[in-house]
Amino acid sequence: MKPPAIAIDGPAASGKSTVAKLVAKELGYTFINTGAMYRAIAWYLHEHGISPSETEKITALLPDIPLEFGKEDSHSTVLYAGDVLTHQLTDPAVNESVSIVAAIPEVRTFLLRKQREYNRTEAVVMEGRDIGSVVFPDTPFKYFVTASPEVRAARRAAQGLTDSIAERDKNDASRACAPLAQAPDALLIDTSHMTVEEVVNRITQDVRAKLSH
Ligand code: CDP
Repeated sequence: MKPPAIAIDGPAASGKSTVAKLVAKELGYTFINTGAMYRAIAWYLHEHGISPSETEKITALLPDIPLEFGKEDSHSTVLYAGDVLTHQLTDPAVNESVSIVAAIPEVRTFLLRKQREYNRTEAVVMEGRDIGSVVFPDTPFKYFVTASPEVRAARRAAQGLTDSIAERDKNDASRACAPLAQAPDALLIDTSHMTVEEVVNRITQDVRAKLSH
């Protein structure tokens, strides 16, 4: 039997990452940050002076991009030339281009295979925009985590990051291929007035209840 896949989707700065990491820890599953995978591609293209609008060039280049999507301890990593990418992924240039890169269907197909591979042998908590709708449409564990635009803007500002989240959300929700959307069978959690612990408990309780049935 395939190991469980917990899908956590939602808009930018909704608190998904924090929550998904803690849910993974609590359940003993591997945490997979799919945003980091899209960000790594956007970073590589920027580093090599390739514009996100050069879709044909990007499509041809994809199989040869020397990024490695791996795992360390219990979370996903992206390596470039043997080094784990960290601060590079939240560079302002990446924040600006990532949603344009993520709208390229070939980029999504390329990463989709890698994302599903993580779940072949192990239980995962995967965080992104299309996990419940596209990556694992059959999983019974789907959560759509959101917060009001004001709360999300304040959360991102508190991280000290320059990030036009409204712009990214617009791109993510309006793209033709795998847009940001709540799967019809996902549990909606508005975190605007909830603590992190409350959100984590809500999800883990639901997962455990479903697992025991
Ligand atoms: O952390 P934050 O919510 O700001 O963003 P992220 O999860 O790191 O994702 C960065 C960008 O990658 C998003 O704005 C989307 O354009 C794209 N993305 C996507 O298209 N599909 C996913 N499953 C995950 C991220």
